[in-house]
Amino acid sequence: MVKIAVLGYGTVGSGVVQVIDDNYNEVATSAGEEIEVKYILDLRDFPGDKHEAQVVHDINIILEDPEVKVICETMGGIEPAFTFEKKALENGKSVCTSNKELVAAHGPELVELAKKNNVTYLFEASVGGGIPVLRTLNTSLKHEKIDAITGILNGTTNYILTKMNKDGADFDTVLKEAQNKGYAERNPEADIEGHDACRKIAILSSLMSGEYVDSNKVYTEGITKISTEDFAYAKALGCSIKLLGRAEKKNGKFFSMVAPFMIPNDNPLASVNDVFNAINVHGNMLGDVMFYGQGAGKEATASAVVGDVIDIVKHDGHISVNMTDKPATLSDCGEYVRRFMVRVALSDKKAAMDVFGSNVDVLSTNEVNDEYAFVTSKMPEKEFAAKTESLGVVKNYIRMYM
Ligand code: HSE
Repeated sequence: MVKIAVLGYGTVGSGVVQVIDDNYNEVATSAGEEIEVKYILDLRDFPGDKHEAQVVHDINIILEDPEVKVICETMGGIEPAFTFEKKALENGKSVCTSNKELVAAHGPELVELAKKNNVTYLFEASVGGGIPVLRTLNTSLKHEKIDAITGILNGTTNYILTKMNKDGADFDTVLKEAQNKGYAERNPEADIEGHDACRKIAILSSLMSGEYVDSNKVYTEGITKISTEDFAYAKALGCSIKLLGRAEKKNGKFFSMVAPFMIPNDNPLASVNDVFNAINVHGNMLGDVMFYGQGAGKEATASAVVGDVIDIVKHDGHISVNMTDKPATLSDCGEYVRRFMVRVALSDKKAAMDVFGSNVDVLSTNEVNDEYAFVTSKMPEKEFAAKTESLGVVKNYIRMYM
């Protein structure tokens, strides 16, 4: 029997307890031993809860109990989670977490600390909710040279974009729905401004390169500027609009970014809808492989945390993770070459043509009458930024996925 503790009895933490309750035998069979939740750390009491008796308010009870082998940190945020995780590792307890903010900010240090103490630090649930992509990168794909990872990495924004597209729904209403379903972050700005997807692509970029990609250096745009008009143009182009995280090694350069993209409908990423996430990994020998599943939500995310617990129970000592503190050198995304969909008022058509030239694909749509929209020729991002700045009247633009 292995005893574990869960830090934080919120959406994911209560899901972890539920997975262990509901799948008790399956978990035991997979781990080779029964797994029991000995403690649940939370500031609150949970009178009437089935696990009321396991709730404690003092982390030291858990840290000082030699019976506890694994700690699941599902509190989120940097502090006190960081301090608790460090203390747990120093006390010879393995840690698994869904806390992408913490992994993105301090992952290398925590991996190193785990190694030093001959225990393990795993964070499958920090990227893609229930999708087992990190373990696959760390095992089955470890021999590959991964040159590109492209993902729909945030369930909340994908849910919003899907509803806006299919039902013409209004942004705020759909965001509320996502919050009620437990998909969104406590502060949904992290979702809609792209910060959550940014942390996830930074983690994937770090694992892809074996170096540390600082999420603060990843160029990030969210979905707050996307409007119903953009969906009309996407339709005219045979595309879907998705918030993508993209990491790519190309001609000796390494790019990592998050932004909304127009993706052609024949690309499998275009049909990833609602709260689902998908991550396409390209390896030099393997080619493309795509992972698809629920990217947010209680049970799915908790299942990934429990998967880490099982991995830890099955392996004595330290499980290595391809994340080091050597800083990665990211190239300037301004060098990335692509096409852009641009919208201006019809009255600004001439000015737009003067700046972008006539070598553009004009979009004809009956749905948006007072606008002129076009797709530019290929150009580096920084050239595009300079042109839009000099034009000064762009209503919105969206990158084309090529
Ligand atoms: N807020 C996150 C999302 C939760 O919507 O994807 C899962 O990380």
